[in-house]
Amino acid sequence: MGYIPDEVAEEVLQKSDIVQVVSEYVLLKRSGKNYFGLCPFHQEDTPSFSVAPDKQIFYCFGCHAGGNVFKFLMLKEGLSYPEAVRRLAQKVGVYIPQIQGSYNIQEQKKKQRPYKIMAAAAEFFHQNLLGPEGLAARNYLQNRDVTGEIIKTFQIGYAPAGWDNLIKYLTSKGCKEKELERLGLIIKNRQGTSYYDRFRNRVILPIKDAAGRIVGFGGRTLDGSTPKYLNTPETSLFNKRHLLYGLHLSRAAIRDSGYAVVMEGYMDVVAAHRLGIKNVVASLGTALTREQVKLLMRYTDEIVIAYDADAAGVKAAIRGLDLIQQMGCRVKILQIPDGKDPDEYFRLNGVKEWNKLIKSAYNLIDYKLHVAVAERIPTTAAEKIRVLQQVLPNLAHIKDPVDKEESIKRVASVLNVSWETVTSEFKRYIAKQEKNVVKQGKIWVNTGKFVNNTHNTNLNTHLTDARQQAEYLLLGLILTDFNLFSIVKEQITIDHFQNKELKKIFSLLMQSNLPVNEPARLMQRLDDKGQQVLGRLLSEKIPAGNKLSALEDCIKIIKKQAGKRRQEELLHQLKEAEQLGDQKRVIELLQELQQLHHTINTDLP
Ligand code: CTP
Ligand code: MN
Repeated sequence: MGYIPDEVAEEVLQKSDIVQVVSEYVLLKRSGKNYFGLCPFHQEDTPSFSVAPDKQIFYCFGCHAGGNVFKFLMLKEGLSYPEAVRRLAQKVGVYIPQIQGSYNIQEQKKKQRPYKIMAAAAEFFHQNLLGPEGLAARNYLQNRDVTGEIIKTFQIGYAPAGWDNLIKYLTSKGCKEKELERLGLIIKNRQGTSYYDRFRNRVILPIKDAAGRIVGFGGRTLDGSTPKYLNTPETSLFNKRHLLYGLHLSRAAIRDSGYAVVMEGYMDVVAAHRLGIKNVVASLGTALTREQVKLLMRYTDEIVIAYDADAAGVKAAIRGLDLIQQMGCRVKILQIPDGKDPDEYFRLNGVKEWNKLIKSAYNLIDYKLHVAVAERIPTTAAEKIRVLQQVLPNLAHIKDPVDKEESIKRVASVLNVSWETVTSEFKRYIAKQEKNVVKQGKIWVNTGKFVNNTHNTNLNTHLTDARQQAEYLLLGLILTDFNLFSIVKEQITIDHFQNKELKKIFSLLMQSNLPVNEPARLMQRLDDKGQQVLGRLLSEKIPAGNKLSALEDCIKIIKKQAGKRRQEELLHQLKEAEQLGDQKRVIELLQELQQLHHTINTDLP
């Protein structure tokens, strides 16, 4: 990776938003003007990781990792600085001239090629839908209320009937059959002599990853042939477990609304968008995987499951739901009336009805009770215990004591057992859990606490004495109110600073024509340690009160302490001069000591 000019890096910085970038990895919640979340660089249960949108920096109060958006990507993705800049440049549309070796250009092209081919295939399908060949498919979609605008949004297409339309098109564009086969677009015939198109006479729904790159296709039959949906097989790009249909379109809406609705089908998501309901994704026909939940947890901590009411294997689904809860997400289950799927529901009902339905969604305990009772009302003690066992883990997840109490009551009422029975079973369950944790040594939170120790720089150890604390506070004050800097500049020089990191930051501030009011850009000029310290300076609350008098106190302390050091030095030199009999030097030194005496003995707070 080649060198990146500063002004280019700064342009990328200007155009990117650290909140958006961090949100791809961390669930952020707004609190005041900053965002907070669980630190991705160390294990923690309560959020100490902060992102400041105004300063465009992040800082963790727990492990002290800190810096600007480039630093974040470097740490999170293990990228080098130029790699991080390039990655972001691509996202925000800043062109970075390729001044790197030809080997790397080829490497990069090779990596992008499969995505380009998939994009070309999608465009081919899309144009076919819009052209004369696509008439029947267009009619089909129209019957399902899929309009022109939605067709564009989802880049819906049509794979024409015939065996080799796509092959012909893509090979004419320079693609090799072998690579098309690897991407799951074409299939070798039985004799192994030639290839044919996988998707024929089907409506095509391109499947994109979270970054919006096409990685696969779902093709729906038009003529009732089976399977109803034909999908791209597992390829280097297409891994169902890691994908959610529609995620690239729904990320913002999920964050804004505070929850994500997971549906089963492609067409459910398409139909939701038609009504302007955008916080929806589809799980590609499988039960939600851990990877998919993780993807969603970048944007929210509440998942509403809106699977078809007639879904086979409800029980298997329930097990999946426990997983979501264990991963730290709230789960709700939506029951669509009359055994319909969301697509069918939307056809008859509007947004208002949908929102009501969302509000009425079951929580996990109630859903389990509902399913258990719907199957067969438990009458024997054994049956009741079996249902009770199922909901105990979910009870354990309820933090609010009132909520917990309410839930316990509901369980008791539905199962027609006493409140005491549920409570004592619950206590037994908790006790057993705790024993297990100890026995299995599951207290990993403590052992593996810091993922990467290089960020665990406990600055307090460096700021043991009053002088360094004053240096720290002084910089903190300057950074909150830059007008104070002119006062400081008159009295403090770089040499006054003792702490190495703080000294670097001060000297940076002393340089003119720097973007002092743009911390993220200042960060650019600092090394790792410096970025961390600046991150802390910008994120920690500087004690309120009279800033000016606080600043003056800092200046006094720094000067006094620096003076003391100088005094020691001078006394040492004085001794030497006396031993050498250098009278002139002795007088000089005595004069300087006299001056110092004044500084050192000024009154301190
Ligand atoms: N699915 C699949 N392969 C199949 C059937 C289903 O991959 N042979 C996946 C698709 O992602 C589909 C989802 O499972 O969208 C839900 O399937 P289903 O409920 O059968 O389809 P619908 O979404 O209702 O499809 P449509 O409304 O088009 O009939
Ligand atoms: Mn359907």
